[in-house]
Amino acid sequence: MDKVVELVRHDVIAVVTINNPPVNALSAAARRGILESLNVAIAAPEVRAIVLTCGGRTFVAGADITEFGKPPQSPGLNELLAAVENSPKPIVAAIHGNALGGGLELALVCHFRVAVEDAKFGFPEVKLGILPGAGGTQRLPRAVGPELAVKMIAGGEPISAAEALKGGLIDEIVQGPASGAEAFARKVLAEKRPLRKLRDDDSKLASARADRSIFTNAVAAMTKKSRGLQAPFAAAHAVSYAIDLPFDEGLKREGDDCMKLLVGDQSKAQRYAFFAERTAQKIPDVPAEIPLRPVKKVGILGAGTMGGGIAMNFASAGIPVTIVEIKQEALDRGLQVIKSNYDRTAARGKLTPEQVDQRMGLLTGSLDMNDFRSCDLVIEAVFERMDVKKGVFEKLDIICKPGAILATNTSALNIDDIASVTKRPQDVIGLHFFSPANIMKLLEVIRAEHTAKDVIATSMKLAKQIGKVPVLAGVCPGFIGNRMLSKRERQANEMVLEGAMLSEVDRALYDFGFPMGPFQMNDLAGLDIGWVKEESRSSTLIELLCEVGRFGQKTGAGYYDYDDKRSPKPSPVTEKLIDELIGKSGKKKRQISNDEVLERCIYSMINEGAKILEEGKAIRASDIDVVWVNGYGWPVYRGGPMYYADQIGLANVLAKIKEFHVSLGDDFKPAALLEKLVAHGKKFADFEQSPR
Ligand code: CAA
Ligand code: NAI
Repeated sequence: MDKVVELVRHDVIAVVTINNPPVNALSAAARRGILESLNVAIAAPEVRAIVLTCGGRTFVAGADITEFGKPPQSPGLNELLAAVENSPKPIVAAIHGNALGGGLELALVCHFRVAVEDAKFGFPEVKLGILPGAGGTQRLPRAVGPELAVKMIAGGEPISAAEALKGGLIDEIVQGPASGAEAFARKVLAEKRPLRKLRDDDSKLASARADRSIFTNAVAAMTKKSRGLQAPFAAAHAVSYAIDLPFDEGLKREGDDCMKLLVGDQSKAQRYAFFAERTAQKIPDVPAEIPLRPVKKVGILGAGTMGGGIAMNFASAGIPVTIVEIKQEALDRGLQVIKSNYDRTAARGKLTPEQVDQRMGLLTGSLDMNDFRSCDLVIEAVFERMDVKKGVFEKLDIICKPGAILATNTSALNIDDIASVTKRPQDVIGLHFFSPANIMKLLEVIRAEHTAKDVIATSMKLAKQIGKVPVLAGVCPGFIGNRMLSKRERQANEMVLEGAMLSEVDRALYDFGFPMGPFQMNDLAGLDIGWVKEESRSSTLIELLCEVGRFGQKTGAGYYDYDDKRSPKPSPVTEKLIDELIGKSGKKKRQISNDEVLERCIYSMINEGAKILEEGKAIRASDIDVVWVNGYGWPVYRGGPMYYADQIGLANVLAKIKEFHVSLGDDFKPAALLEKLVAHGKKFADFEQSPR
């Protein structure tokens, strides 16, 4: 027997335990081991029931994704699942941690399922661009009904044990997974319960067969969120097979659809994005086993837009936070915004009032920075002015305990300069959250010149703990994301001044897959960020707009006009301002094609990404992709800008950039690294280094 799976017997109960760290993925060895153990247990006359459980931190979290795209190894998942489902002896799945993807498929073919209270259940396959391909789309609707099944399979989000119990996915919530399952198995034997095979149970499909709106409404609910993605729609379609077709036919169609997606470009890009996110955690010169600094208490300076959101992340993760402001009024306002945010989440049913109270109870407001004395980490989120930041860091240096991490949320200031006013630059780091900080996944972790390795490792780990996706960057203007964004913005603006309509530029990027185009995005963020009235010289479109009070959505007018539903309409005022600027430049308006819009916007970013890499401000190209997917809405099914460039072919990208260099000037000066990679026939994916 394979050692990734262990079989023991407790009188009439055989316990099959999978031990395949870190997440008990169903690798070939695991599949083989389970099948062999089952065969032994089924053949043993003294065994009357079987418990299927896992060691380590989780139940099976899925198929082994690293096996995708490689030659299949025997036994296949379907063979294993059939053996479990057809076992003549009852099999009880004992679930803790996550039962995801192939793991949930495995649980669904067991005749009974029990789980501990904090277990999670889901089909995250759509996030990898595929479907549950081994019957999940056929068995889950039979377990929980098609409405919840569509939500889970097409949405990809897991549900809790309480929801699973309510929906009929599990039979019981137990204290310990294996012991609870064993007790349950004895009950099954004592009560002589029949073996429940979901494939044969159509009872929960009847209502959807009679009234398809149950199903179509659930599909409509996920449509907007899934724009551009193939897998969620294919997933919903596959659930409809369960309603319309006999089980075996549905199973076959599901498998065929899954295979088509698996070999497609979207799934390839989405699987790349999955591993890119995990690779970003790995810092070549920071050992994985480096001891971390304990962070049990956090301080936040400034309770404005960012400080409040940042504080929520920690409170939501159960970490106490002290928030310090300069004025009582600002503190009260900041805490009130946090409370309203939590209340809104509670109103949507995602938090209980007790959880809101518990989180608010972890927040302590103060007007005295001395209250940071006991904090292990302090994050500064005050005004974006070097003199203010330096003043604050001088004080933090005096107040904070030795070894405390001192972080800044600056979006553009030089962190080496900020660190230089302290006597402990090794403890200073940038933690660049994105707005709204309680929601956006991305966290750029900025390594300054003297930042200690354990400060980096602690920050990366902590980021995960509060649900963020961290990426390490070096100090440079705009770090990774905003630095590339500024190049895209510049091209978008230039094209408008050459004759493109704002809406044409926005539409091109929206159709490419971004949630919105650059002008709509700026209207949302506020055009007056960084605008100073006294210094405004009417020289750019944004200055002109701000000068007439058009600050974006918040004033009902920016690049576009907005109605009370916040939908954008072309603005005659903006068009007039654009025409005036074009008039002053003496240029003639011209038609700009959709391709040109995309190439100028995206290739300018790719070229800047290459410069970021060549300067060592990002470790690897995939880190840049993680930034763009998680912070700026780059469509995940296109992997990220650097992955996209690799797919187009760097030689093709460089040729176009050279063309633009000739026609548009130094904005398109090719990055040396891009030329070097092309000369050596390499891809961005081939490049890796230590960042500085
Ligand atoms: N296959 C292979 N490796 C996997 C894996 C999988 N299904 N899931 C996670 N891993 C690896 C990660 O790459 C990572 O490896 P490194 O340490 O070398 O980077 C390691 O396991 C730990 O993963 P995380 O850092 O993500 O750990 P976590 O504790 O934060 O999260 C998790 C655990 C929630 C299970 C998360 O890893 C996850 O969501 N995994 C993917 C689950 C998934 O998508 N399952 C469906 C797979 S497809 C499928 O199952 C289809 C089918 O049957 C037909
Ligand atoms: P904000 O103006 O909303 O909040 C700043 C808060 O800091 C104010 O409440 C102010 O009273 C307080 N403050 C100022 N000096 C202080 C001091 N000495 N002690 C205590 N409190 C003080 O600003 P916002 O938008 O939250 O920005 C904060 C930082 O975050 C800036 O460095 C900004 O560049 C950065 N940032 C902002 C993003 C955004 O989208 N707003 C995104 C990412 C970073």
